[in-house]
Amino acid sequence: MGAPLSTRHFLDLWTLSGDDLRALLDEAARRKAARLGLPRGAADEDSPLSGHVLAMIFQKNSTRTRVSFDIGMRQLGGSTVVMSASDMQLGRGETIADTARVLSRMVDAVMIRANRHEDVEDFAAYADVPVINGLTDLSHPCQILADLMTIEARLGDVRGKTLAWVGDGNNVLASFVHAAPKLGFALRIATPPDYRPRGQEIAAAQKAGGDITLVAKPRDAVEGADVVVTDTWVSMGDPDKDARMAAFPPYAVTEDLMARAHKDALFLHCLPAHRGEEVSDAVIDGPQSAVWDEAENRIHAQKAVLLWCLGKL
Ligand code: CP
Repeated sequence: MGAPLSTRHFLDLWTLSGDDLRALLDEAARRKAARLGLPRGAADEDSPLSGHVLAMIFQKNSTRTRVSFDIGMRQLGGSTVVMSASDMQLGRGETIADTARVLSRMVDAVMIRANRHEDVEDFAAYADVPVINGLTDLSHPCQILADLMTIEARLGDVRGKTLAWVGDGNNVLASFVHAAPKLGFALRIATPPDYRPRGQEIAAAQKAGGDITLVAKPRDAVEGADVVVTDTWVSMGDPDKDARMAAFPPYAVTEDLMARAHKDALFLHCLPAHRGEEVSDAVIDGPQSAVWDEAENRIHAQKAVLLWCLGKL
């Protein structure tokens, strides 16, 4: 039996309405401002998820996703159970469906970082509690919600802004593509020819009104942009490291490349960064970098996601 129709999963930004995304971003910013000065583990004044438990399942390594969800749940008054998939019966052949049914009797929501997107969709199909995508091979919606929150805190409403993506056409980029038509920002993408994003997602976002352009040269993506974003050249699970390390050097974000963007442009990177590869020290440590806000905002953005999933937003 599948989830009740009312169960709100957070699997991709593509499936949310523009109004939902706006509500999530506004709630994240409001809660962040309201708790300024509190110790990081202290609960928000209203403790809206008091007594609630989030289970987290990791098939891949994580620093930010793991800590930000844990701290976010504490701030909402709830708690977490963190599991490595390899330590679970899931790793010994228990089915995703049975795992989803069992956890649905024990916790209030489940966050999964999975190798295969279809496994998270499968889990959600059998769970009676909300399931949150904490990164798959295809997307990273929590990260992009935090990125959009960071942009808006520094530059105001993201609508009408131009974001330049330079580097790998990966899962993180896919979530930007999903959000572009919903929130009305332009996205210019420069990737090596062999590492372009998936065509069907670009086509769907363009059909939905997204202003999305693929260009060959990084400078053509970055020219006049409000935000420059990149990511590691070799993500977890990528098998072709040598080919990637040969293809990506022209796509490094350096001071020279940043100088082509708007003078007040932000630099974002979801981290972990490989300094001296996709980004220079001067850029990531420089005045235009917002990467530490971006990392912190994972907490605040995901608190809004948890409230939305549990029907409190
Ligand atoms: N950006 C991100 O998802 O970080 P982690 O891999 O450390 O969770």
